[in-house]
Amino acid sequence: MRKVLVIGAGGQIGTELVIRLREKLGVQNAIAADVKTECPTSLEDGPYVQMDVLDREAVRAYIIEEKITEVYLLAALLSATAEKHPDFAWKLNMEGLFTILDLAKEGYLKKIFWPSSIAVFGPTTPRENTPQRTIMEPSTVYGISKQAGERWCEYYFEKFGVDVRSIRYPGLISYTSLPGGGTTDYAVDIFYQAKLGNSFSCFLKKDTRLPMMFMEDAIRATLDLMEAPVENIRIRSSYNLSGCDFTPEEIANEIKTHVPGFEIGYAPDERQAIADSWPSSIDDSEARKDWGWAEKYNLQDLVTVMIENINVQLLT
Ligand code: SER
Repeated sequence: MRKVLVIGAGGQIGTELVIRLREKLGVQNAIAADVKTECPTSLEDGPYVQMDVLDREAVRAYIIEEKITEVYLLAALLSATAEKHPDFAWKLNMEGLFTILDLAKEGYLKKIFWPSSIAVFGPTTPRENTPQRTIMEPSTVYGISKQAGERWCEYYFEKFGVDVRSIRYPGLISYTSLPGGGTTDYAVDIFYQAKLGNSFSCFLKKDTRLPMMFMEDAIRATLDLMEAPVENIRIRSSYNLSGCDFTPEEIANEIKTHVPGFEIGYAPDERQAIADSWPSSIDDSEARKDWGWAEKYNLQDLVTVMIENINVQLLT
């Protein structure tokens, strides 16, 4: 019997992950938790608990009392916000992870999902088709926290047998909730401006290529990874995962095929340096080999679905 807790359920990944987990496990078996006092409207059909992941004792008490078997720990500050609040980012991104890893070590949890990111790579990493194992010298607070987290996940698996599984997500594109504080967020914001009939000012240069993925692919990958037989999971740091890759100019051109007259301008800011330190494309052959990963959405597919479904009401 699986009873899962999604911490950070109000965020971009969490809102969609909870819905899919509820479809799979039954509404009562997928509990949404977030620091916000109000439950996000889309998750009102099931259990919601207000939880601060930094309150170690409260998190422990809840997980033990409710007999939670699996945790998806999504609460984090993303790359651009973390640069503005480095101390808090390090605290938030690391302390929650230890709380959950320790609960699994003590036998209270069977499985953990913890997201890593392409941000674990840095300016000295080979940028194209970045391999699973390569130079990793991240230059952002977010990247440093994710790389450290990966090392700790592998350590808890090796030393204590903790079944922790992880994906290095690329930039995630979705329409059900807004992203916040990431360097890849432009590739979501652009759809809202196109839909509103506005031109878009991009904070990255037109030729900055980054790895990206449509959310449906990312959720399917997460569920598949968590359901894969334990012996298939040969990487306990975090799996490289690739969807597609594109530049701001390429996504704008694709949007123009749906929204004629759409215009984009470029005004690079401090996020350009972050993007320049990350890979442009990812080699995910280990995920394909170990648990059968294959993406479904390329740039054309994701633009079509985004244009059809984007809801500008979310901006208000
Ligand atoms: N999408 C994230 C960010 O831009 C990368 O993991 O921070």
